[in-house]
Amino acid sequence: MTNLREIYKCNVCGNIVEVLNAGIGELVCCGQPMELKKEKTEDAATEKHVPYIEKTNNGILVKVGQNQDHPMLEEHYIQWIQVIADGASYRKFLNPGDKPQAEFEIRADKIEAREYCNIHGLWKS
Ligand SMILES: [Fe+2]
Repeated sequence: MTNLREIYKCNVCGNIVEVLNAGIGELVCCGQPMELKKEKTEDAATEKHVPYIEKTNNGILVKVGQNQDHPMLEEHYIQWIQVIADGASYRKFLNPGDKPQAEFEIRADKIEAREYCNIHGLWKS
């Protein structure tokens, strides 16, 4: 059984999917159940993962992390930043070498950000 917006990863081939409609079935890839990536909210290590939301003139800027940039190396980087604002979903994909941040021209009352690190998984503000 899945829930809306859950992120699952296949630990064999690397497929990552987001649930757009919840169902009772189990997600399977490469012959085995996909792993549910839990949203982490606290980072005890020095490397920061929790997305930080700043207001800008045009909307918001989401940074990973707050005091120290997350690495953006070929082998370790932030793959995407997602914003869920008043129920609508926005996502920007990043590449190694980019800044670990994304700007969204949106205004909303309830804003939540998530990001996905290729090594350390899913994080939420
Ligand atoms: Fe990381």
